Amino acid sequence: MKNAIEHYPYEKPSLDFMQTYLTDAKEQQIQNSCTLQHAWAKVQQPLEQEKQRLYIEEIKQLLKERNAVMVAHYYVEPELQDLALETGGMVGDSLEMAKFCKSHPAETLLVAGVRFMGETAKILSPHKTVLMPDLDATCSLDLGCPINEFSKFCDDHPERTVVVYANTSAEVKARADWIVTSSIAIEIVEYLHAQGQKIIWGPDRHLGSYIQAQTGADMLLWQGSCIVHNEFKSIELEHLKQKHSDALVLVHPESPAEVVAHADVIGSTSKLLKAVTQYDNQTFIVATDLGILHEMQKQAPHKQFIAAPTAGNGATCKSCAFCPWMAMNGLEGCLNALKYQHNCIELDSDLIIEAEKPILKMLDFSEKYQKFNQENKHALNLGAQSFKVWLTEQQHGAKF
Ligand code: 13P
Ligand code: SF4
Repeated sequence: MKNAIEHYPYEKPSLDFMQTYLTDAKEQQIQNSCTLQHAWAKVQQPLEQEKQRLYIEEIKQLLKERNAVMVAHYYVEPELQDLALETGGMVGDSLEMAKFCKSHPAETLLVAGVRFMGETAKILSPHKTVLMPDLDATCSLDLGCPINEFSKFCDDHPERTVVVYANTSAEVKARADWIVTSSIAIEIVEYLHAQGQKIIWGPDRHLGSYIQAQTGADMLLWQGSCIVHNEFKSIELEHLKQKHSDALVLVHPESPAEVVAHADVIGSTSKLLKAVTQYDNQTFIVATDLGILHEMQKQAPHKQFIAAPTAGNGATCKSCAFCPWMAMNGLEGCLNALKYQHNCIELDSDLIIEAEKPILKMLDFSEKYQKFNQENKHALNLGAQSFKVWLTEQQHGAKF
């Protein structure tokens, strides 16, 4: 991996560096300032080879014994991604993870990612045991959107439809009309906008602004952000593009608008990943968590990937695009979770019922939208209005 990003070498930054660097955490008034410190302190260190081998063997054995399957996000450590794939599980973006967890027959789901991913799995499959390597693995978007304040924000605007990004707590999900992930957010908002609905969006302000610009929808935005994507720098990215004029720039829409403005491809982790095989370019500049480079390099081993800069000239670290909470997931945590049934996601049953409704709407929408696109392959760019007409013709009703 190191060779491929030689222009912007990245290393996991030191705790001190991150404390001063991630100023946005302060802007979001994350009350518990220990949260980041705690996360960085728990980031997994590489294991000796022999220990790693033994852990992997034991995890494989336990997955079979417990009728369990492992589901991983693209941002977690490479060995966890590989293990999930080798054992019949999956690696994906957050929408794909949710779909897989819901439909897979295993009794136990081992979710390597952040807490909202484990909670979504539990909400969709309450009868399954959902384990995580570390339950402290949260997300700055979730932390920056406490239920009481968010609920008040919604109560103050009762005429608006509440659309919430999946990176939130189960309580915030239960307050929403719709849940979206980055791979289906534009389509859902476009559809709601076509119905004349005004929207409350939370929590990611950058993703919200991006969707607003794409759809023209009337959206009131909660002011949260992702501490990882918020750090990408536009001017440095522009310089990097000049040096690599043949490179395609891939950007996750949680990044600031001035960074998104430089992108050739904007989208969820899965969409960015697809781009590396879809396009003939040999070089890609990647603005998202660098965990994704593992799968990108597997899929396009002869191509070059350059990490988009997160720091200006003179900084000690040129790209620090690592989510500390994702990096808390490790083999030891997986092993202990399976062995002792540690770190089990537990949610109140009434909360599950309420939080499930808007998630199911998203899954239902996603399935129908996919079908609509397949049936209309010949006509590109059919908008939300056509989808509405198609839904009515299919006797699904125009509303969800
Ligand atoms: P995706 O849905 O694109 O996988 O994004 C999840 C996430 O946390 C991005 O930071
Ligand atoms: Fe949350 Fe950002 Fe980490 Fe994704 S990368 S889990 S949005 S903090």
